[in-house]
This record gives sequence, structure tokens and C-alpha cells, in this order.
Amino acid sequence: MKDELKKIQEECKRQLKEVADFSGLSALEQKFFSRKSGELTQIMKGLKQLSDEMRKEVGKSVNQVKQDLEELFLTKKAELEDQALSSQGEREAIDVTQPRLPKKAKGHLHPMTIIQQELSELFQSMGFMVLDGPELESDYYNFETLNISKDHPARENMDTFYIKGHKDWVMRTHTSPMQVRTLQKYGAPLRAVVPGRCFRNEATDGSHEHTFYQLEGLVVDKNISIADLIGVMKGLLEGVLKRSVEVRLRPGFFPFVEPGFELDMNCLICSGKGCKACKHSGWIEMIPCGLVHPKVLEFGGLDPKEYSGFAFGLGSMRLCMQRFGIEDIRYFMGGDLRFLQQF
Ligand code: FA5
Repeated sequence: MKDELKKIQEECKRQLKEVADFSGLSALEQKFFSRKSGELTQIMKGLKQLSDEMRKEVGKSVNQVKQDLEELFLTKKAELEDQALSSQGEREAIDVTQPRLPKKAKGHLHPMTIIQQELSELFQSMGFMVLDGPELESDYYNFETLNISKDHPARENMDTFYIKGHKDWVMRTHTSPMQVRTLQKYGAPLRAVVPGRCFRNEATDGSHEHTFYQLEGLVVDKNISIADLIGVMKGLLEGVLKRSVEVRLRPGFFPFVEPGFELDMNCLICSGKGCKACKHSGWIEMIPCGLVHPKVLEFGGLDPKEYSGFAFGLGSMRLCMQRFGIEDIRYFMGGDLRFLQQF
């Protein structure tokens, strides 16, 4: 048995030297140590047949051989692991001679998105809710609830796109339909803004698009006055434009406010000298606004004797033009990368 043990030990050592990978190592381990048929296991099982004295002596040798071989297996395993790591290192090594790979194109925000986000954050910081409204709107909310009846002349400068076969639905001409929708849903007191797209069927020029952005604002509470309106308008312009601006207030007519105003700002593109964006007047119409008409409050379910409020409809695309010095509104949706890549 001792000879046989020696033979096994030598054979195992010889074969271990030839092992080149983990699967070879595992197969060899099975061959000598497997519980059922391992060659060394068979020797150990055979110890039972020996006399006590012999079993003690041979058993000691078998244990010694087993321990030595196990150490050799561990050493081999460590060697194979080292080899695997270094070949992986070779694969991952940086090839300093390789030419620079082209930079991957990265997207960025459209200037209108930047302004919309900034406006939303500014109003949130003043305690306003930021809401979203439908672009496809009913005639009822777009006109009727805003005191613009079917035959009202105010409809004339708000010609829009109608939906074939659905004459009572329009692409909204302004964000104002959200005034009554919001009052009906949230009641008063209320502070909300609604940024969004609007649509008008009109000839385009440097300051008019058929699809453009507005931001509606609505504050309703008890004892709201024009002083509150002016304070918020100035905070809004200076907050977004990050500089002090000159404003002027003119009377303006909108059937859903009483009294109504046009708040103009000095043109920042030409510093008031006159350019395409301000139609060479030096002033730019920024925020139509006014105190909410009693009829609108009634449509919203409120008693005008108890509540008052102000509303405004900021032309956020024009504000964006002032902020970034964009001369022509048609650049926004022109899809020209030379324009878009500047932001
Ligand atoms: C309105 O749309 C009213 N709903 C605003 C309002 C709200 C008044 C609440 C009172 C109270 P107006 O038609 O003037 O008003 O449009 C408001 C702003 O939208 C304009 O000052 C302008 O900045 C912008 N705007 C209007 N039409 C266009 C257009 N075709 N292209 C780009 N911007 C436009």
C-alpha cells in the first residue's frame, strides 16, 4: 500500500505540472480526491482492512501525502489566477498610439425649455402652483368662460386652427382658458401659473409665430389690488432677466379683465434704440394683465363680491428672445443647428 501511495503521489505531481487551466485543475482534483472514486480516497478506504498498527503507520503517511498534494493544488490554483489577471490586464491596457475617438454628440436643452424651467422655479419659490393645461381646448373654455361670446370682436385677432368635424374644439389661442378650469378645480385662495404652447392662424414675422409659448398667471384672494399685480410683474421680469428693467403700463383691453393693462419693457436687444424684435419702437409688449373680470370669477364658481384677483399672460417666447438676444422668433422652431448649438 505504501508503494501504491508513492506512485499516486508522483503521478499526481507530474500531472499537476501539466495542468494549463482551471478545468484541467478541477478534473485532476476529481481524479485523486473525489469522494467516490478518487485514487487517494480509495487508499484511505483501504486502511480499514489493515491491522491497527499498520493502519496507524500507513494512515499517517496517507494524511501527509494528502496534505502535501492539497498544498500543491492551492499553489497551482494561485498561479492560474495570476495568469488570468495579467492576460485581462493586457486586454484592458490603454493603447497610447490609438488616434482619439470622435466625441459623442451630447444633447442640450432648447432655450425655450430653459426659460420655462426658470419661470416655473421662480413662481414656485413665490408659492405658486405650476399647472399644465390642454392644448386642444373647448370653445367654451377658450372663449366663452373668458367673456368672449360667439360674436365678440375679440375673436377676430385670435383666429386659430379648428378641428375638422369638431367645431367646438380649437387649438387654444392662449393659456387663459386655464383661469376658469383652475378656479373650478381648486377654488380660492389661489396662486397658480400655467406655462404652455398656444396656436394662432396668423402670418409670421420677426415677433409672431403660429405656435408660441405663454405663461398664464392667476392670483385670487380677498382684497387683491393692482399694487399686488405690479409687484409680482416686476419681480417676475427682474428674476428671469437678472437685471433691473424699465417698464411702462398702458391701458389694454381684454374681455376677461377689468381694468386691463399692457405692461411693456424697454427692448434689451437694442437697448431701446429700435430693432426688428421691437418693431423699431424701443419697447416690447411683455405682459398683458389686469384684474380678473367678475364674470370670470362667477364662471369659476366664486362670488365676485367676496373675491378679487389679477391675471397675466406672459409671452414667454418674447421674454426668451430678450434674455438671449434673439432677434427673430422664427429661429426657435427653424431647426437650424447653427442657432440651437449656441445654447
Ligand atoms: C392674450 O393672449 C391674453 N390671454 C393675455 C392675458 C392674460 C391678458 C391674462 C390679461 C390677463 P395677447 O394676445 O396679447 O393676450 O398675447 C399675450 C402675449 O403672447 C403677447 O404679449 C405676446 O408676447 C405673446 N404672443 C401673442 N401672439 C403671439 C405670436 N403669434 N407669436 C409669439 N408670441 C405671441
